[in-house]
Amino acid sequence: MASAMLSTASAAPSASISMNNALKAKVKLGIGSLNSCFPNTKSFGRISMTVAVNVSRFEGITMAPPDPILGVSEAFKADNDETKLNLGVGAYRTEELQPYVLNVVKKAEKLMLEKGENKEYLPIEGLAAFNKVTAELLFGADGPVIKQQKVATVQGLSGTGSLRLAAALIERYFPGAKVLISSPSWGNHKNIFNDARVPWSEYRYYDPKTVGLDFEGMIADIKAAPEGSFILLHGCAHNPTGIDPTPEHWEKIADVIQEKNHIPFFDVAYQGFASGSLDADAASVRLFAERGMELLVAQSYSKNLGLYAERIGAINVVCSSADTAARVKSQLKRLARPMYSNPPIHGARIVANVVGDPTLFNEWKAEMEMMAGRIKNVRQKLYDSLTAKDNSGKDWSFILEQIGMFSFTGLSKSQSDNMTNKWHVYMTKDGRISLAGLSLAKCEYLADAIIDSYHNVS
Ligand SMILES: Cc1ncc(COP(=O)(O)O)c(C=O)c1O
Repeated sequence: MASAMLSTASAAPSASISMNNALKAKVKLGIGSLNSCFPNTKSFGRISMTVAVNVSRFEGITMAPPDPILGVSEAFKADNDETKLNLGVGAYRTEELQPYVLNVVKKAEKLMLEKGENKEYLPIEGLAAFNKVTAELLFGADGPVIKQQKVATVQGLSGTGSLRLAAALIERYFPGAKVLISSPSWGNHKNIFNDARVPWSEYRYYDPKTVGLDFEGMIADIKAAPEGSFILLHGCAHNPTGIDPTPEHWEKIADVIQEKNHIPFFDVAYQGFASGSLDADAASVRLFAERGMELLVAQSYSKNLGLYAERIGAINVVCSSADTAARVKSQLKRLARPMYSNPPIHGARIVANVVGDPTLFNEWKAEMEMMAGRIKNVRQKLYDSLTAKDNSGKDWSFILEQIGMFSFTGLSKSQSDNMTNKWHVYMTKDGRISLAGLSLAKCEYLADAIIDSYHNVS
């Protein structure tokens, strides 16, 4: 037990208070605070006292707000209503709304167990067999950049960790360069560049009037960006809008980026999961690579192989020569070493086994088509339910035009709040719903909730 030490300038009231001795902090108190601590104490003019109090050194740390996406799942868990629906997090669920482990993943794991593989450290750049197949999956095994060894590939901690590594590279080797992020974008993009101390601004992307792409705005903002900016693009299945540029749009975007000497920076978190085809979903990246442009691509296997918790992905930097790629790779490794030393092995082995084995690879493609197909079916059923139930004449066809896991409903924050508070439908406050968390059986209920929120809440 520690006692409080009091000292006064004129008279000295003696006081002693019991305290936990975990930590002593010296606090200077004036008359007001003295009287509030000791209400029976008289004032003795100017008093200064030093008090040892039980204050944590972390006292100045305020409570962080819940994560806008992962916080939705926490709120969902706390809701006891039977009708509740979690459309917040972008994770695939079965028609019974259960998490799904792909059969090819189970088979690859069985194979790994049978081989009795060890758990030795990976090199900083990750598993060589993984790095090879992941770059080939992205650019095509026969892609010129692969053949000419122009790609620096480093295994990353899924999409997020790969983006973060790229952000560190930008911060170190392109000081002051700006990253342009679509408005809106996946919420974590801004956090990643903020934490890496990379300046960013936004380019127009979404047009609320059409619930479609603001292509003119996008082009104008990319043109207006300082020369040599990094333009962050979603390779396919734009999150949160589900609105992708057309192939003609991509050509024009590449033209403007080339004109302005910008560096394209792709985030590919949904390859194969958007259309069901790995090649179709990589078309945007390949178009830029085939133009001979230098570019960055962050990859994730969270969604397309359902390896959310394995944290497996990669950062690929396409360079103008093999020699440059080798130097860039060495610097990526240098950045990774003090951050996390080297990446985890389990997910890397799964991907290497699945992609590297023709039978498992074909099975994976079939499973991905099945998952993408289920999402397309609920998308269609949701649209059908909305048009059948809503007599206002509102056009809901934008839902069918969107692609991938998400639908951007166009609901405002207060309308989204109504979805949660009244209907127990959990979603992000920007009006995004994850169709991967929806079943055919729940489409009508969801349509009722959307119609009520859209028409009855301003
Ligand atoms: C656009 C986008 N990029 C990256 C990620 C990163 O995901 P992960 O870190 O799980 O690979 C996500 C996940 O939702 C995403 O939507």
